[in-house]
Amino acid sequence: ESPTHNTEAKLQKICQLLDQEIPYFNWTGFYFKNGDKEELILGPYVGAETDHTVIPFGKGICGQVAVSNETFVVPDVHEQDNYLSCSIDTKAEIVVPIIKNGENIGQIDIDSHTLNPFTAEDREMLEWLCDEIAKII
Ligand code: SME
Repeated sequence: ESPTHNTEAKLQKICQLLDQEIPYFNWTGFYFKNGDKEELILGPYVGAETDHTVIPFGKGICGQVAVSNETFVVPDVHEQDNYLSCSIDTKAEIVVPIIKNGENIGQIDIDSHTLNPFTAEDREMLEWLCDEIAKII
């Protein structure tokens, strides 16, 4: 089993666990920087298939986090102009960057079908998780 495959499997498992444990996490996935290109590519995820398999830096919530290096909590996606819709059911979103050795290498992205669902604890947990993930990838 290659190390790359092993990491993908771990990230897939993390998506499954979050999806199972938190009822208002309705799409949970990872995006990673595509080499030296200023774009994100879709990694492991759980939820509906998405058209957004490649996201240019700056575009949508994910693309904004790729350049801001900061967590972006969106209580109501309909109030965002720079937003890429994956599903008409999505009402809220949180994106947390994965910072490894000071570099923003990717992110976890969670969509919710509930308006304003994310708590301060969710944010803290996801930021902790992304720190842990940075250590294993
Ligand atoms: N809504 C995201 C695009 C990714 S999908 O939610 C899976 C955005 O605005 O960047």
